[in-house]
Amino acid sequence: MFLPEEEARAPEKVRFFDTTLRDGEQTPGVSLTIDEKVEIARQLDSLGVDVVEAGFPSSSKGEMDSVARVAELGLGAEVCALARCVDRDIDAAIDADVDLVHVFISTSDVQMEHALKMSREEVMDAAVAGIERVKDAGLTCLFSAMDATRTDEDFLVEIVEAAEEAGADTFNVPDTVGIATPALMHRIVSSVRSATDLPLDVHCHNDFNLAVANSVTSVSAGAQQVQVAVNGIGERAGNADLASVAMVLGALMDVDHSIETEELYETSRLVERLTGVQVPVNMPVVGDNVFSHESGIHSHGVIEESQTFEPGVMTPEMVGHRRRLVLGKHVGRHAVEELLGRAGLEPTDEQVSEITERVKDLGDKGKRVTGADLYAIAGAVMGGLPEEEKVLELVDLAVMTGNRIAPTASVKAVVEGDELVASATGVGPVDAAIKAVQSIMNGFPEITLTSYRLEAITGGSDAVAEVLVEVENPEGDQAAAGSASEDIVIASVEALVTAVNRILAMGTDREE
Ligand code: KIV
Ligand code: ZN
Repeated sequence: MFLPEEEARAPEKVRFFDTTLRDGEQTPGVSLTIDEKVEIARQLDSLGVDVVEAGFPSSSKGEMDSVARVAELGLGAEVCALARCVDRDIDAAIDADVDLVHVFISTSDVQMEHALKMSREEVMDAAVAGIERVKDAGLTCLFSAMDATRTDEDFLVEIVEAAEEAGADTFNVPDTVGIATPALMHRIVSSVRSATDLPLDVHCHNDFNLAVANSVTSVSAGAQQVQVAVNGIGERAGNADLASVAMVLGALMDVDHSIETEELYETSRLVERLTGVQVPVNMPVVGDNVFSHESGIHSHGVIEESQTFEPGVMTPEMVGHRRRLVLGKHVGRHAVEELLGRAGLEPTDEQVSEITERVKDLGDKGKRVTGADLYAIAGAVMGGLPEEEKVLELVDLAVMTGNRIAPTASVKAVVEGDELVASATGVGPVDAAIKAVQSIMNGFPEITLTSYRLEAITGGSDAVAEVLVEVENPEGDQAAAGSASEDIVIASVEALVTAVNRILAMGTDREE
């Protein structure tokens, strides 16, 4: 593929330095427990990052303990701790027993004068002393000239020369307040690069939505390492998003790295769940809409050939995501036919047109159209749906809940002729009941509940609740079903049982 000339300077392989557990945890409102940090660190390791920045040990006792726990996990990735260029911080990082200490100090005039109240000479001396302290302890040292993109260029060159002389192993160029444009970042990285033989690293913030562009441009200017965070979390508007940087480098710039891209989606969801910072549906690479198609033209295109309306160099399989055809007012008949076909239904051409019109009408009324709505419309237009063979038949359902006991559900069901019983606990009675049904289906390939929606049809404490569920099998086939009852647990289980039977009717066989 033809590459722009400037990309010719990119190194063959770029290292990923992940700062989800450090700068990411500095996202306002985010605080992770030690166990949560450990879970994320393990996932980052399996994702293939080169460095896990586990935290800032001198900032609190809990932070010290969590960095030390991550350091003793025996990860394949190097474990790093952050420290200011002060003895107390560096000693705390050394005590946490990490492989790598990341020392930083402000080098821009505005931060030296107002945040540090130090002169250039004092900053230079502190930087050198900090690096030497890390090296004397026998550890690898990454040095950051904080606010490098607002630092006087001559002073930045003096700092990088002094850092190299003092024994730093890598020099980081942070765009601390996210003001760099790709052109500025390219110029700064190129000029630092011509002043040192040290490997260069960049840390880009996203205040102007340029963090990813600035990171990959820095690579084209010769940076060998990028600092990123899962879902782009971090101070203010966050850091460069790990998934986007990995995909741009690998899929668009042909730069090698060690990220196992198939784990990007799962990693994003884990960090979303544990930090509570929601991933927007239109987030690149991992957002819910990245491989979703609603418009008739696009859906028809991707049914014929996915590259028509997707990048092609990035598929859902590559990033562990899934492709979805979405129902709504823009839907086309090809998507309707495809979705019904996957459920084993073969409407005539006229019926497909009628079903498509009715789906559009629902969408026009501002309603979110679900798979269950599609089945209901198809049933009405086709004069009823064929009874699917019932692999799973519910016999009994009992639920126990209260303010002092964990909600527990037991389910008795006939599965392919065998009467089976299973029970499970959950965060609530519905969750427990759904888990019990899932556990009774143990011998089958995993059927995932991908959507659960509850709506009250009538008012009052005896309101009828309508539950709509969508499930997916490992091949990515989806099925939906709905049920209504005054009892939301019963409605939930009935809807799930119907959806499970529908997906099994698509040919999901029991595993031997
Ligand atoms: O944004 C920043 O400059 C930082 C440094 C500690 C690298 O987070
Ligand atoms: Zn930062």
